[in-house]
Amino acid sequence: MRFALLSAAAAEAGHLAVPAWVALAYLVSGVLFILALRGLSSPATSQAGNRYGMIGMTIAVATTLVTHEVASLPEIVGALAIGGGIGWFIARKIAMTDMPQLVAAFHSLVGLAAVLVGLAAYLNPEAFGITGADGLIEPQSRIEMGLGIAIGAITFSGSVIAFLKLAGKMSGSPILLPGRHVLNLGTLVAILGLVGYFTQDQSGWVIATITILSFLIGFLLIIPIGGADMPVVVSMLNSYSGWAAAAMGFTLHNTAMIITGALVGSSGAILSYIMCKAMNRGFLSVIAGGFGADAGGASGGPAKEQRPWKRGSAEDAAYMMKQAESVIIIPGYGMAVSQAQHALREMADTLKKEGVSVKYAIHPVAGRMPGHMNVLLAEANVPYDEVFELEDINSEFAQADVAFIIGANDVVNPAAKTDKSSPIYGMPVFDVDKAKTIFFVKRSMGGVGYAGVDNDVFYMDQTMMLLADAKKMVEDIVKALAH
Ligand code: TAP
Repeated sequence: MRFALLSAAAAEAGHLAVPAWVALAYLVSGVLFILALRGLSSPATSQAGNRYGMIGMTIAVATTLVTHEVASLPEIVGALAIGGGIGWFIARKIAMTDMPQLVAAFHSLVGLAAVLVGLAAYLNPEAFGITGADGLIEPQSRIEMGLGIAIGAITFSGSVIAFLKLAGKMSGSPILLPGRHVLNLGTLVAILGLVGYFTQDQSGWVIATITILSFLIGFLLIIPIGGADMPVVVSMLNSYSGWAAAAMGFTLHNTAMIITGALVGSSGAILSYIMCKAMNRGFLSVIAGGFGADAGGASGGPAKEQRPWKRGSAEDAAYMMKQAESVIIIPGYGMAVSQAQHALREMADTLKKEGVSVKYAIHPVAGRMPGHMNVLLAEANVPYDEVFELEDINSEFAQADVAFIIGANDVVNPAAKTDKSSPIYGMPVFDVDKAKTIFFVKRSMGGVGYAGVDNDVFYMDQTMMLLADAKKMVEDIVKALAH
C-alpha cells in the first residue's frame, strides 16, 4: 500500500516534530481560516472571507505536499483534478434552492473520507507512523482512530438521511422507532465501550463493529428529526464533519487538519446553538427528535381547512403600498425558488422614490439554509442597512402599514405562538398579524410551508392573497407602480 503520507521529519523523530517553517505555514493557514469565518459572519465581508479561506487552504495543501514523502505525485494531482473538476461542475450547475442538500451531501463525503483514512491507517499503520516498539498500533492512536471512524461514520449516514430529507426524496416527517432513546443510548455507549476496548485489543472485529454501529447510529439519530428542525441538523452535521476531520488530523499527524477540523467543529456547534435559540428548541430535544410527529405530514401536504379568504391583484398591492408610509418585506423560501430578489429590490426602490419607508425582515431559519435570504438580498444589492433580524424588527409590525410576505410561510405562522400541537410551536415568528394590511405572495392556497401546516394569516380580515409565482407577481407590481 502506498499511503506514504508521513513526513520525513516525523518518521525520524516520532510523530509530531515538524520543521519550524511548516508549523509556521500551518499557523498562517489557521489564522486565515479564522479570518475566513470572521468574514463569513456578514454579507458585506463574506467575499473577503471566502478569499482568506481559499488562500489558507492553498497554503495548507501546498505545505503538506511539499513536506511529505508523497508516494505518487501524479496520483495526487490526478485525484485533485478529478475531485476539483467534479466540484467545479456541481458548483456551476447547482440551483441556489438545492444548496442545503448539496451541503449535506458534501458533509457526508467528509465523514466517509474520515472513515476511509481511519481504516487505511488501521490496515497499514507503519505508513502512518503509529506503531509502537512492539509493532502494534499505539494505544492513543487507536483511540484517535476509533473516535475518528465513529464520528466520520455518524456524519456519513446522518448526512445521507439529511440529504434525502432536504431533497424531498424521503418524507420530512419524523420516523419514530419504538424504544428509540434506549436503542440510541445503548448503541452510543457500545461504540464508546468498544473504542476503549480497542486500546487493549486491535483485532479487526473491534474496528469493524465500531464502524458498523456508527453508521447505524448516524441513521437512527437523524430519522426521528422532523422537517422543521432540519436547520439544526444541517449545522450539527457540519460540526460533526469538522470533528471527524480533526480526529483524522491526529491520525495523520497533520496540525493544519487538526486546526481546521476544530474550527469547523466548533463554529458548527455555535451555529447549532444559535439555530436552536432561533427556533426556541433545546439542543438535546432536537437531537432526541420527534417534533412534527403529529403534524399530519410535513412538507408538501395540502392545507387542511377551507375558510373564506380574499384574493388581491398586483394593481391592488401597488396602489396600497404607494399610499403606505411603511412597508416591511418578509422574504422566504419561495423568493429563492422563483429568484424574485432582483424584481423585489426594484419594487422597493420604486416605493422609496415615492417616500415609502421599506425594510426587509429576515427570520434566522427563513429559506433552507442559514443566511439564505441575506445571500439572495445581497446578490440583488439590497442595502444592508435595510435588512433587519427578527428581534430588531418584530416590534415594528404594530406600526407598519403593510407586511409584504413573499414566499415565506412557517416564519409568519401564528400557530407557532398559539397551537401547542403544531410542529413549529415555540419557534419565534414575525408578528405580521399586527400590520394594518398583509399581502401574502404564494402560488396556491393548497401549498404549505416546510413544516406542512395551514396558516391562519391566509384567512385574516386584513390579508390579501397574491397567488402567483413570486417573481412574476413582483414584476407585475413594479409595472403597476410605474402607471
Ligand atoms: P416555507 O415555510 O417553506 O414556505 C415557503 C412558501 O413559499 C410556501 O408557502 C410556498 O407556497 C411558497 N412558494 C414556493 N415556491 C414559490 C414560488 N415560486 N413563488 C411564490 N411562492 C412560492 O418558507 P419559510 O417561511 O422561509 O420557512 C422556512 C422553513 O424551512 C422553516 O420551517 C424552517 O425550519 C425550514 N428549514 C429551514 C432551513 C434553514 S437553515 N433556513 C433548513 C431546512 C428547513 P406555494 O407552494 O403555494 O407557492
